[in-house]
Amino acid sequence: MQLLNASGCLDALVAPDVARQLDGFVTKTITPLPREGNAPPRIAETAHGMLNAIGLANPGRDRFIAEHLPRLRELGLPLWISVGGFSADDYAETCALLSDIHAIELNLSCPNVDEAADSAAEIVAACRLATSLPLYAKLSAAHPDLAEVARAVAAAGADGLSLINTLRGLALDASTHETVLARGSGGLSGPSLKPIALHAVHTCYAATRLPIIGMGGVATAQDVVDMVACGAKHVAIGTALFSDPGAPSRIRDALAVVDLDDIFACAHAATKSRVYAA
Ligand SMILES: Cc1cc2nc3c(=O)[nH]c(=O)nc-3n(C[C@H](O)[C@H](O)[C@H](O)COP(=O)(O)O)c2cc1C
Repeated sequence: MQLLNASGCLDALVAPDVARQLDGFVTKTITPLPREGNAPPRIAETAHGMLNAIGLANPGRDRFIAEHLPRLRELGLPLWISVGGFSADDYAETCALLSDIHAIELNLSCPNVDEAADSAAEIVAACRLATSLPLYAKLSAAHPDLAEVARAVAAAGADGLSLINTLRGLALDASTHETVLARGSGGLSGPSLKPIALHAVHTCYAATRLPIIGMGGVATAQDVVDMVACGAKHVAIGTALFSDPGAPSRIRDALAVVDLDDIFACAHAATKSRVYAA
């Protein structure tokens, strides 16, 4: 099991000591052109988790490759580059420019920009032709039939899945009744996502048996154990890093006494035996 950060939740150049607690670093999603992102306010804390509407603010792929990537390489960590875009060609062209990295995560699920016009499977198929690097498809749990999407991206050539991205939510200012975020809605993250993420990992592992990076509300060693039991091969920490940058080391220490190989996907066997016993 590798412990990673969730895309967009850690800037390794600003906080290298946090990144070095991880087994690999996942970048913020990179798009073909630079993006300022959405207007502020674009972060809101709610009683149920964090809402963000950053809108994929990033320097664009050319500046990322020329300026950011060389500095990230100096960290000496396996690098996962998160790739985004607005058409299958956007994604594929960025994939073709990347080399000498650990893997590519295709962000097929950002809730804060308009939906990509092409389907997840079309995008994966285009990227498969453009690169031989490992491709992880990051899906949203908002799909009505997530197993179907997972099977489709597997058939299109994905090597793994990243589950899950944030889910659309909205917060109101109690006195004005206006939305707190300028964009209106944003992506909900944090502890409230965990049961949804566990379900997504459980469903997609059963549907594909692909390696899965499980994420959504992970903040403790128990959260990691639960993800692995549902079928996650690797686990990523997102929102928890903002308030608890020491979480990766603490979680790793707590897991030192746990045999994760023994726990891997065991929730599937447990579910089956209870169904048959009923
Ligand atoms: C501030 C913020 C920015 C994010 N930016 C990205 C992004 O650029 N690309 C992406 O795929 N996911 C992005 N995410 C989603 C996270 O990678 C992760 O899938 C989600 O937050 C669930 O994990 P968590 O509950 O541990 O935060 C972002 C999340 C947050 C909170």
